[in-house]
Amino acid sequence: MEETIVSAPGKIILAGEHAVVYGYPAIVAAINMRITVVVKQEKPDKKYTGLVKYALEQLGIIDKVKLNINSELPVGGGLGSSAALATALVWAIKKDSSQAEKDQWVKIIEDFQHGKSSGVDQTIVREGGWLRFQQGKWQVIKLQFKAAILIDSGKPKESTGEMVKMIAEGRHEAEFKKIGELVNNWRPELIQENERLLEKIGVVGEKAKKIIREIEAMGGQAKICGAGGVKAGSGMILAVHKNKAKLKQLIDKNKWKSSEVRLGDEGVRYEN
Ligand code: MEV
Repeated sequence: MEETIVSAPGKIILAGEHAVVYGYPAIVAAINMRITVVVKQEKPDKKYTGLVKYALEQLGIIDKVKLNINSELPVGGGLGSSAALATALVWAIKKDSSQAEKDQWVKIIEDFQHGKSSGVDQTIVREGGWLRFQQGKWQVIKLQFKAAILIDSGKPKESTGEMVKMIAEGRHEAEFKKIGELVNNWRPELIQENERLLEKIGVVGEKAKKIIREIEAMGGQAKICGAGGVKAGSGMILAVHKNKAKLKQLIDKNKWKSSEVRLGDEGVRYEN
């Protein structure tokens, strides 16, 4: 049986995470870190777990496919690894279905992982580039923000679903409204304000705050870029500074794990 190979990008939310679940806008970009899935219609040689098991069960082919998954995306880093994996799996397995049908399958798998997802992750993974997303609708936007430095604050103990549920239990309407206004006027200089609002709603842990304060103290700005986490790490931190060399010196001095990413990568695509 012929194999199908699909790759899908990860993403960075530049502004608007969490508030986007409640109908406010977000700005998001695909990144050049991808997940690649090779699907063969053969009996599997191992037991699947987690998201993959759930997806294959839902799609009714748990005993019928052999998978090879290669990911450049850290799990739980806030870079959309689950949306990228769900999308790549569905596009490979449901190759002949319409886009609307593929979207529905990805949403079912994303909701299993996220509890209640806004749809922003699966939309950027499919479309690629840079998008403004609100209530299921999106527009392609042009940003000069084409590269970013990511600093690893550590893997969150909480899943995205747990973070979204925790926020749902609080009262954060005022902060969400401010985040929405900030998204509508977005420029990199607003990263610090967005970070403060995320801290106020309580999704940024101490480890991440410490890194972010150090970056701010030497004139930069930084924010978490996904669901966050408070018990341990908060995932990847997006960091900017007018003088990139200075930021790199700080990263080296502190031995923070970091990487440079390119923004605006292509969305999901067939590789064969
Ligand atoms: C996760 O990447 C972004 C959240 O806003 C959840 C969602 O939009 O589904 C935290």
